[in-house]
Amino acid sequence: MSTVLVVYGTRTGCTSGIAEKISETLAALGMRADVRPAEDKPDPSAYDAIIVGSGVRAGNWHGSVKEWVTANADTLRAKPTALFTACLTMGTSPEKSDEVRAYTDALTAETGVVPVDVGLFAGMNVPKTFSLPERLIMKLMKAPEGDFRDFAAVAAWADAVAPKLGLTQ
Ligand SMILES: Cc1cc2nc3c(=O)[nH]c(=O)nc-3n(C[C@H](O)[C@H](O)[C@H](O)COP(=O)(O)O)c2cc1C
Repeated sequence: MSTVLVVYGTRTGCTSGIAEKISETLAALGMRADVRPAEDKPDPSAYDAIIVGSGVRAGNWHGSVKEWVTANADTLRAKPTALFTACLTMGTSPEKSDEVRAYTDALTAETGVVPVDVGLFAGMNVPKTFSLPERLIMKLMKAPEGDFRDFAAVAAWADAVAPKLGLTQ
């Protein structure tokens, strides 16, 4: 049975929900999937493959996830690794997927981690989950409110990425 570590960074719980869905989907395919926040600094070395994802602030992954990728870059370069980003742009303007894919370009260039795939998922704009300054920023940007997560799309990506990661039952 293949083992996969799903690491995530979140501010509101949006991305942890997506990470859990990825893990559930892989478990249903017969793999052992562990989900951990980047803040826990999980050790990826014992796993067959890694999936890492983050929510976004101003075009950037959360610092804790970037730090985890950088700290574990040697391992991630040596094992099949996939990335995913959860953000509002994919919920409101999915045609801007190239812009969202580029959110991870600097991190992959700096670390040399070459992902087998990058999942791009719609996130949330639920004001009560944000700090007051964040709420004001979103209001000024006139960002549409709602939970835009599409868990069927997340599951479809997890199904498709499993063979790319070399995962087997
Ligand atoms: C201050 C702020 C800045 C944001 N910047 C972006 C952005 O640059 N691009 C984007 O698509 N979404 C942006 N978002 C939306 C978040 O990525 C979205 O809410 C996502 O669901 C966050 O996931 P998380 O709570 O799991 O970190 C921003 C949200 C806030 C509050």
